[in-house]
Amino acid sequence: MSRYKIAWMPGDGVGNDVMEAARIVLDALKLDAEYIHGDIGWEFWKTEGNPLPDRTIEMMKKTDCALFGAITSKPKDEAAKELAPALRDKGLVYFSPIVRLRQEFDLYVNMRPCKAFSGNPLNYRDDIDLIIFRENTEGMYAGVEFHPVDTELKQVMAAHNPKMKRFMNVPDNEIAISTRIITKKGADRIIRAAFEYAKTAGKKSVTLVEKPNVLRETGGMMTRSARAVAAEYPGIELWETNIDAMCMWLVKNPQNYGVLVAENLFGDIISDLSAQLVGGLGFASSASTGDNYAVFEPTHGSAPKYAGQYKVNSMAMLLSVKLMLDYLKETDMASRLESAISEVIREEKVRTYDMGGSNTSLEVAKAVTEKL
Ligand code: IPM
Ligand code: MG
Repeated sequence: MSRYKIAWMPGDGVGNDVMEAARIVLDALKLDAEYIHGDIGWEFWKTEGNPLPDRTIEMMKKTDCALFGAITSKPKDEAAKELAPALRDKGLVYFSPIVRLRQEFDLYVNMRPCKAFSGNPLNYRDDIDLIIFRENTEGMYAGVEFHPVDTELKQVMAAHNPKMKRFMNVPDNEIAISTRIITKKGADRIIRAAFEYAKTAGKKSVTLVEKPNVLRETGGMMTRSARAVAAEYPGIELWETNIDAMCMWLVKNPQNYGVLVAENLFGDIISDLSAQLVGGLGFASSASTGDNYAVFEPTHGSAPKYAGQYKVNSMAMLLSVKLMLDYLKETDMASRLESAISEVIREEKVRTYDMGGSNTSLEVAKAVTEKL
């Protein structure tokens, strides 16, 4: 029996390429694990009408955590056209399997480190070392959306909020509503996760990224929660910023920030911005964790045009493996892996195309194993 059971879910496109790279490193580290393949992605949408089959969820429940590659996501009308003919007109609606997974397993913390490794020619500055705590289960991603919006719904909304009255005469089909749901529990737990991290990592501040001056209710909920939680951590300052200004500050002075916390959509946005400051999506790793399960994945998409070419930078995946090792409390392996990655970057020899080189995703992994 292996010590760990890990759900192995390459998904679509370059997901396969980078997962192969991950395996090279895991095997070199001799992690005592059994890897169990899980079906997920576009193929299963087309053939089964479900990009995240139930059997995959059941399999995951028997594992310690999952490593995940990448997923192809398309807007619902485009997705519907690609369904197998027998599945069409059955009312199947495409959903993002990764978003569903985060909700299904209540993986409320999405942790996204953005650290400038020295020697990376793509760094915007060399002194950036920040980490984003993105809420991962609610906000706009709760998926509570409406279209068309019928009179009954409009009236209920108007009865609760007179600002809705302005939209009463808009034809049902010409109005769409997406809701941003923030619960106190959701706000408290992501903010607490950020403060706990700051405490452990010895960081002196946590920056809340919100927009309470406009999104008064949901932004207000986040702000109240942040102030209450912050009061429990006397050595750590709470900085409150607006999402728009934060985008500017992140470009102007990214080195001033350490721990950022945000609800789901704002966290999504600032994490791509921050990733680009330290080399782009080829370096952006992430851990989605809850109280009982975790999924590790690079932030990048499936890049279908590069699928199977082993062209994309596998660093984001290898850094996600590092986060997985941390989660499994294989601290020694995790730190050896991170040092090996940073040494390969510093040496400036083995580089994928995004860094100006011509090495493959797998060559990067092999170079990393040589430094272990
Ligand atoms: C991410 C991605 C996903 C998200 C997409 C693929 C649904 O952009 O992990 O940041 O929006 O969360
Ligand atoms: Mg994103």
